[in-house]
Amino acid sequence: MATAELAGKHVVLGMTGGIACYKIAELTRLLTKAGASVQVVMTDAATQFITPVTMQALSGRPVYTSQWDARVPNNMAHIDLSREADAIVIAPASTDFLAKLVHGMADDLLSTLCVARDCPLLVVPAMNRQMWQNPATQRNVAQLRADGAEVLGPDSGPQACGEIGDGRMLEAAATYEAIASFFSPKILSGRRVLLTAGPTFEPLDPVRGITNRSSGKMGFALARAAQQAGADVHLIAGPVALETPWGVFREDVQTAQQMHDAVMRAVADADIFIGVAAVADWRVDHASEHKLKKTAGNALPSFTFVENPDILASVAKLPHPPFAVGFAAESGNLEVHGEEKRVRKNVPLLIGNLGPLTFGRDDNEVILFEADGATKLPRADKQTLARALIAEIAKRLPDASLIL
Ligand code: CTP
Repeated sequence: MATAELAGKHVVLGMTGGIACYKIAELTRLLTKAGASVQVVMTDAATQFITPVTMQALSGRPVYTSQWDARVPNNMAHIDLSREADAIVIAPASTDFLAKLVHGMADDLLSTLCVARDCPLLVVPAMNRQMWQNPATQRNVAQLRADGAEVLGPDSGPQACGEIGDGRMLEAAATYEAIASFFSPKILSGRRVLLTAGPTFEPLDPVRGITNRSSGKMGFALARAAQQAGADVHLIAGPVALETPWGVFREDVQTAQQMHDAVMRAVADADIFIGVAAVADWRVDHASEHKLKKTAGNALPSFTFVENPDILASVAKLPHPPFAVGFAAESGNLEVHGEEKRVRKNVPLLIGNLGPLTFGRDDNEVILFEADGATKLPRADKQTLARALIAEIAKRLPDASLIL
């Protein structure tokens, strides 16, 4: 996660009763680390699960639990606390609290704050699966959506009561992702983005192969930024040890040929293709079906290589290609190789990594190559850079003015 991603945002975090209250400790930490200020408001029931002292320590602000709390300067906590908020997030949102929201009830501080708010409302339900499936709850959720609230989750899986099913609260990290996504400008709304990321792995035999040091971080950061910008994102990943960004559809492949085939199956639906993967240029012709063994005379194995398909160039060659973006990692002379590569691959935009050491690092510095010149973007962590690159790509879409 990037630092200061939610810089300047003020979130009222409303906690209601439920065992998922423990997740809010972590959520508060994630939000504050990302630059948001967090004002925690708890119902009485929430204080049965986690103490206001814990939440105050994590948020760095006094926690409010009562509408009669005299600490708010004009003694109108229900008005004052929501006025500076960019959003109220109810997490966990209990069955009871959903019902109260739907009916506009205002019999405690948190419910009164929600009725008196002039900012968006995000609701993160957490309850037993039967309570979630109950027709009354489903009616309430539908009504909340119709009233303009964002309902995040719930998740499915084992529950505190021992049952398994829908109703668990999203994990803290997923809740954070959904909130960050909510705050991102939707500059790619309605667009479909296809990306490749990570290395490829070309087998020599069933246990050995040729790969490279790409970590996939830049491609995954771009997938996340595109999702947050409102795009429908399909990520085709080589072997990497990274979690799928929230809301992104991921397909795993091993070899360049598999990556090529997966891209070709999906590309007709894409408005934008971003080739971030470090695709192996060559593979071994006829990889051994069995593990290669040391021979008695210690004869060394030898391999014949054949060229892999160039995925980016194949996409750019299609009769109706999406807006295609390439990446280039060079070990020197980027200014020359970057533009030459863009022309050779026939793409409108190629992003050149400055310096050969980008693989695996958390930050990066790039130059954008396009027909009318090159532009350098400042060094930044990969997630910040990904957001900047998504904004640059959005600006260059042929019909950008229709959406922006
Ligand atoms: N690329 C691809 N398929 C390949 C090779 C590269 O789609 N078989 C894409 C990469 O995803 C990247 C761009 O092409 O977007 C440039 O990759 P790079 O490895 O820098 O270029 P190559 O064409 O392999 O050129 P070279 O290795 O000679 O620098």
